[in-house]
Amino acid sequence: MQGWSVNRGVGILVIGLLLVCSGALAKAGEMDPLKPRVPPREQAKVHNWHPSYGSTRTAPPEVIAQGKRLYETVGLCAACHGKSGKGDGPAGKPLRIGPRDFTNCRFHQVRTDGELFWILKNGSPGTGMMPMVKPKGHLTEEQGWAILAYERQFCKETSL
Ligand code: HEC
Repeated sequence: MQGWSVNRGVGILVIGLLLVCSGALAKAGEMDPLKPRVPPREQAKVHNWHPSYGSTRTAPPEVIAQGKRLYETVGLCAACHGKSGKGDGPAGKPLRIGPRDFTNCRFHQVRTDGELFWILKNGSPGTGMMPMVKPKGHLTEEQGWAILAYERQFCKETSL
């Protein structure tokens, strides 16, 4: 009888450990990519934010090329979002909330330029996405817009 209860105790311990480990090893996934990140009270303000050339979707090729360089180097974006934009960079792996997959065209459809720029200035509070553009981040506004122009290129659907 005593042996049975010891076995049962060990069994419960093993099951408990398995549950804890599987939770810790669970692959970090994206938090709902279509839900807005800009607080409602700031939506009207960001609506008017655009790059000097009008829209990140019609950026000149030299701006896109500059954005690519920055994205992969001093911008640090590729470290988390991956060179491929799929959100699979090495520094993003341990994060509980995964980096955005920029190849998701639905994400680009729902996000305006202003909303993307707000994220670069403020980060996404409560996640590993830190402010990247000044004053809280290290990039200039012009660099931030160039990176966003490149980020749009990860969606390969031309109808957007
Ligand atoms: C330390 C890792 C890390 C780095 C470096 C990083 N990001 Fe992120 N990024 C994240 C994570 C995590 C999320 C997901 C946040 C969320 O779901 O709210 C995210 C989300 C985003 C989003 C989506 C926000 C939205 O509206 O849903 C954009 C845009 C973005 N990052 C752009 C960038 C750019 C551009 C750079 C480089 C200048 C960059 N990130 C660098 C981790 C990172």
